[in-house]
Amino acid sequence: MKNIRSDFLLFSAQPDYCYLDNAATTQKPKQVIDALSNFYTYHSAPVHRGIYTQAEEATHIYESARATIAQYIQADVHEIIFTKNTTESINLIASAWAVHNLHEGDEIIISELEHHSNILPWLILAQQKKLILKYIPITTDGLLDYTAYAQLLSKKVKLVACTALSNVLGSPIDITCIIKQAHACGAAVLLDAAQLAPHARINVHDLNVDFLVFSGHKMMGPTGIGVLYIKRDRQEQVAPYQVGGGMVYSLSACDAIWRNAPYKFEAGTPLIAQAIGFAAAIKYMQENIDFKELQKHEAQLCRLLIDGLSKIKAVNILGPVEHLRHSGHLVTFVINNMHAHDVAHYLNTHAIAVRAGNHCAQPLHKKLAIDSSVRASFYAYNTHEDAEKLLFYIQKLCGLN
Ligand SMILES: Cc1ncc(COP(=O)(O)O)c(C=O)c1O
Repeated sequence: MKNIRSDFLLFSAQPDYCYLDNAATTQKPKQVIDALSNFYTYHSAPVHRGIYTQAEEATHIYESARATIAQYIQADVHEIIFTKNTTESINLIASAWAVHNLHEGDEIIISELEHHSNILPWLILAQQKKLILKYIPITTDGLLDYTAYAQLLSKKVKLVACTALSNVLGSPIDITCIIKQAHACGAAVLLDAAQLAPHARINVHDLNVDFLVFSGHKMMGPTGIGVLYIKRDRQEQVAPYQVGGGMVYSLSACDAIWRNAPYKFEAGTPLIAQAIGFAAAIKYMQENIDFKELQKHEAQLCRLLIDGLSKIKAVNILGPVEHLRHSGHLVTFVINNMHAHDVAHYLNTHAIAVRAGNHCAQPLHKKLAIDSSVRASFYAYNTHEDAEKLLFYIQKLCGLN
């Protein structure tokens, strides 16, 4: 794994800082910050509006960013819609597709592993439209129960909205199975790839998924930029989410004709700088990160941490531990008689940043009969020393050294 740490000025300024909250958001390399600064300094102009040189350049850079993201997930360029994050992408599908295409008595399937962003839009829609919301249960190992999934499927199911990788337990999902079985029943599939996209290559056309969503800030890009992939065949079924400038082909006093996707879904001045920054992050990853090596590296860090934590009686590691030892990107645990916030607070005093709480997954925590947990999540710039340092202070906290 190439050492990329020097591209992150934070780590040059604070070499001992141990940032382990990557599943929430990642640090940004200077190449991404430079791309943002370069855009704002030299190319700041409206896109798809002006006919002067600077505006045409801005349009070109913005649309090239879309092409970079499209190529990254093997989509066609017009299948990529820029939103502000994963959450907005899911809300867009709930309120501009599902609301028009699902009817009383129809069913939506999600899973017990979901982040609140992939629960709340469906819960509210189900209440509004008298739909039935069902959950794929998890096994005691924290994996999806695929037998139960098969039993939940029927012709009444119109949508399966599922995470592609758990943000709490790191549970891998057999997304091919989820999609094939849903399609066999005539249901559409939305994949929440917020956790998967930063760690693995995705090919939307091979997957044949209908909707796929992820966020730039979890993969070295800026905040305020997310992606909504809508399969071309589905685009006609999705109504405009918001209306305003740039998304109508023609407008008269009493009628409007929408432009085609993606513009139909990008009303108003779009997220120009953020999209450009995100494309810079993708290019940075393509030039510096081999995904197979990244997975190996993250798994090594998980293994180091898990093997150490497993020796501490008071620690209980959540999720599919054996899987995490071989291909994980995060480790979540609880310490007997210690609140997760207290653990995180103690670690913070030693310059270690971990996430503590329910990680926006309260139903999952309820299922696990805990109210909070501590999560250490790794990325390309983390080192063995990071994992060792975390382990050392957990041991110390548990009275072992
Ligand atoms: C699996 C999953 N889905 C959705 C989200 C929401 O992402 P965002 O806050 O970027 O909208 C997250 C963020 O942690 C996540 O991990």
